Amino acid sequence: MRLYHFCVATMIILCCSCRKSAALVIPRNPNFDKGLPAQLKKGINLSNWFNDYSDPGQFATRFTTGHFTALKQLGFTYVRIPIGNTILFQPSSPSQLKAWNIGYVDSAVARANRSGLAVMINYHPGSDDYEKELYNDGSKIEELAAYWKAIAIYFKKYTSEQLVFEVYNEPHAAQISGASQTYTWWWPLQEKIVQAIRSVDNEHFIVVGNEGWNNITYLSKSQPYTEPGLIYNFHFYEPFVFTHQGAEWVGYPYTLLHDVPYPSSPENVKPLIDTSTNADVKNLLEWYGNYRYNGEKLYKLIKVAADWASRNKVALICNEFGAYKIHSQPADRARCITDMRTAIENLGIGWAMWECDEGFGLFYYNSNDRSKFLVDDAIKNALGL
Ligand code: BGC
Repeated sequence: MRLYHFCVATMIILCCSCRKSAALVIPRNPNFDKGLPAQLKKGINLSNWFNDYSDPGQFATRFTTGHFTALKQLGFTYVRIPIGNTILFQPSSPSQLKAWNIGYVDSAVARANRSGLAVMINYHPGSDDYEKELYNDGSKIEELAAYWKAIAIYFKKYTSEQLVFEVYNEPHAAQISGASQTYTWWWPLQEKIVQAIRSVDNEHFIVVGNEGWNNITYLSKSQPYTEPGLIYNFHFYEPFVFTHQGAEWVGYPYTLLHDVPYPSSPENVKPLIDTSTNADVKNLLEWYGNYRYNGEKLYKLIKVAADWASRNKVALICNEFGAYKIHSQPADRARCITDMRTAIENLGIGWAMWECDEGFGLFYYNSNDRSKFLVDDAIKNALGL
């Protein structure tokens, strides 16, 4: 009997110490506890490179060393590269990344790094269909967790100064289905992914955000996770009437808006209201004018997120903000971006503008030759670069 007890006790001790040493095999990055990492101060989004709708013919070439060198010289510290949900993810075998695409993403990361820029890769579904599956079928999150574990294993060769992971762009399934648990459904699912990454990786920072397209209200109602090395994120597109004027993907009545002024006042929206024949547009503009949007108002809205982060002692970034240029007045757009960026920066929040060279862009082209990009000086100044 005594020998039996001794053996059982020894086995328990051995098991416990095995589990302990297994956890110690992955040492924790000491920079996890030092606030906002320097590489996440100033970023820009490289959209339409690896989005679901992007042309695979450009996977190798869309952003060149020339782009990265220019971005670095302008003063950016990182690029955020959205990776669509069909680019590397295979739902039937989620732990196997799509072999024919992973090399392109890998060389994109390496190319940016060689120019001295850190990279943030995020999971960025291009349509609501995928997210509806996640929302309606609780088991689907296991597939996404397996995908992220595979990503963490594949990208182990990069340091935390070179590469940052971001779990998911703008979850919003609960909000669009009118469900009540808008800011609670995504939080535990996201934690499963964080844990999947942390089971193999204690080196890289992980960016997390909440429902409502990563809005501030839902983030500031959230309880920070206990896992180490997390950076909390929100997106900021206020005033939406201005930043998304004419945006086709937003739909009616935003598609009808153009030349909306910023800052706003009842006086400066009046001419547009008078000439519009659409009642919804008139109402929207009236509301927008009465709100009197300006830099001070934007600062107050963003401060809600900053206060939440300082109360909870967590690092915070805003990795999407900006304004659509196609239907806005350039000077007003520059003013709005100046106010957004100044508020974000003054509140100690890291940022990334949406986006480098599409409809919300900083760069533009006068021909089809992507090596001949030009920089919009007004936006460069608005970004304080
Ligand atoms: C979306 C883009 C959109 C941008 C601004 C991003 O998260 O993926 O398609 O242009 O937000 O609305």
